[in-house]
Formats: sequence, structure tokens, C-alpha cells
Amino acid sequence: MPTDRSPPVHPTRRLGTTAAAIAEAGALLASGKLVAFPTETVYGLGADATDPAAIARLYQAKGRPHFNPLIAHVASIEAAHATGIFSETAQRLARAFWPGPLTLVVPAAETSAVCELARAGLPSVAIRVPDHPVAVSILRRAGRPIAAPSANRSGHVSPSMAEHVLADLDGTIDAIVDGGAAAIGVESTILACLDDTVTLLRPGGISRERIETLLGRKLDELHVAVDAADAPLAPGRLASHYAPRHALRLDAQNIYPGEGCLAFGLPLPPGADAGLTLNLSETANLAEAATNLYRHLRKIDELPIVAIAATPIPGTGIGEAIRDRLSRAAAPRT
Ligand code: TXA
Ligand code: MG
Repeated sequence: MPTDRSPPVHPTRRLGTTAAAIAEAGALLASGKLVAFPTETVYGLGADATDPAAIARLYQAKGRPHFNPLIAHVASIEAAHATGIFSETAQRLARAFWPGPLTLVVPAAETSAVCELARAGLPSVAIRVPDHPVAVSILRRAGRPIAAPSANRSGHVSPSMAEHVLADLDGTIDAIVDGGAAAIGVESTILACLDDTVTLLRPGGISRERIETLLGRKLDELHVAVDAADAPLAPGRLASHYAPRHALRLDAQNIYPGEGCLAFGLPLPPGADAGLTLNLSETANLAEAATNLYRHLRKIDELPIVAIAATPIPGTGIGEAIRDRLSRAAAPRT
């Protein structure tokens, strides 16, 4: 259940990306500690996925409800096969997009070392092979699946830089490996491959278009009440998420007095105050907008504004993920 009690405060070690630092991060994870590390999507908060005590501390540090399962991160496709059962289609997706910003939800292997708490008791397991040299080196050092949700307090904006992680979790986690800004900036795409269907549970770093091109067909529709907290297919799809402090509205055509403008492209809409505007991409480049999304959301939240107005962003390519995150930031708070 959600824990609003503050976790204990203790010093968070700052680690770099030297071989010694990576070895230390791997050893800390293997001994049950919580270590934040960079991936190509966002920073993850790592914990030993095979150790229920470490996973319990992870849920507590994030303030995350226990019904929301975690992604097991592994260093290679071979390691993924020891953890989950991959259909032909799942194997094709893995070969095409791993390492990379894709998470596959597959039936858990009987031999899977990922503990039940990390899977929130589900018979399935979410697996990802990240495409980041530091992340992969840490995973190899740890030598086991590492659960790594985005390294933010549950419900907050995800972290694309080490300082974002520390703003949320300094003093509650054991260490952070600072590998600079995340290249992609939004989380992985999550696909469920539990039977013959392939459903999109979360748009992300790999676009729907690329997946459909590989499969040679459209993705299947998701037939569950996606906002029901106990929906077994999509337990994490709570409507309000990725939320800045200020209210946010999407597809704003003009900006009201006192509103901060989260812009995409130029010219700025009528009413935008240059001093209260952050542009995700002046050239209307979606990849650049994704990279800037969480940094700008955090920054605009600090300006003297009454609310945030985001200008229209196309929903194609990685734009689908950007619009998904902004809609969740705009959803009524639960
Ligand atoms: O890019 C990413 O995926 C980042 C980096 C750190 O790898 N991680 C990340 O984790 O975004 P997190 O915990 O913030 O989001 C994981 C999502 C949650 O919405 C969770 O509900 C869903 O994955 N998930 C995990 N296991 C699942 C399962 N067995 N079935 C359905 N959804 C699952
Ligand atoms: Mg998250």
C-alpha cells in the first residue's frame, strides 16, 4: 500500500562513471542497496530484483504502491530468456529493439529469479535491456536482474538528470551514479506479449510506427479499464502521473495572464510571456522535445506562474509518448 511515511534519512553516495565507481555500484546493488543510475530513457532507481527486502525498501523510497510492478533490467537477451517466456513475436521484438527503450511484458519463467514482490504478484514480468554503457556495465557487475523504476517519488515528474533524482530522493537512497543527461528523455515503450496479441501498455522511446512496421500489422487494442488500479494488464496506468505542482492544460492555443507557456515550435501563441516560456523545441523537433520534456516541466514549475499551458504537439513518432505524459500531468489529481 502507499507509504506516505518519510523513509529514513541517510547520506546518498555520489558516484561517477569510472570502472571503480561502476564496480562499487554493482556491488552495492548485489548487497541489497538502492542505487540510482542513468539509462538512455530516464534515470532508474535500482534494487536487486531477486531480493524481497531490497524491493520493499525500493517501494518505500519511491512511495510507490505495492500493486504497481517493476521492470527487471538485464544486461543481455540471454539473461532476459532466463527470466521470461518469449513467444516468436516477443523474440522478434527483442532482437529488433534490444538493447533499447523497449520493455516487454511476458509470462514469467518458472525459473525466473525476479521475486513476487517486484512483479506485484503477477504471473507476468516486465523486462528491458537498456542501451546505455554505464547501465549495462552496472547490470553486468550486479550479475542479476535489477528492478529499476524511474528514480522519482511516485507520481512526480521522471528524472532525466542526476540532480532531478537527488531533488526527490537525496538521503533516502544509498548511491547515485551520475552519467549526465539522459539522451531520449521519456521512458521506454511497454508492450505486452502474453498471448498472440501485442498491446501497447505505455508509449515511449520506440514509436508505435516502428513496431508496426516490424510486425507488419497494427498493434492490438488494449481491452482493460486502463485506469483501474487493479487492472492486471496495466497496473501502473494511473491517470494522474508525471505531475508538476502546477495544474497543466494541453493543446493551448493562447496563453492567459500568469500562465507559464510550455511551447513546441515557433511562433509562440498569443499571450505568451517570453520570461515565463520554455520551448521544448524551437524547431518543432519531436526527439529534442522528448529530451527536454521532464527538465522543462521541472523548471517551469519553479517559475512565478499560476498554471502551465502546453501548446499543441503532434502525436506521431515519439510525440505519442510526449502527449501521453502531458495528458497524465494534466489529469485531475488523485
Ligand atoms: O524507461 C524506463 O522504462 C524506465 C527506465 C529506468 O528503465 N523505467 C520505468 O519504470 O519507467 P517505471 O516503474 O517508472 O514504469 C514501469 C511501468 C509501470 O507503469 C508498471 O505498471 C509497468 O511498467 N509494469 C511493470 N511490470 C508489469 C507487468 N507485469 N504487467 C504490466 N505492466 C507492468
Ligand atoms: Mg515511473
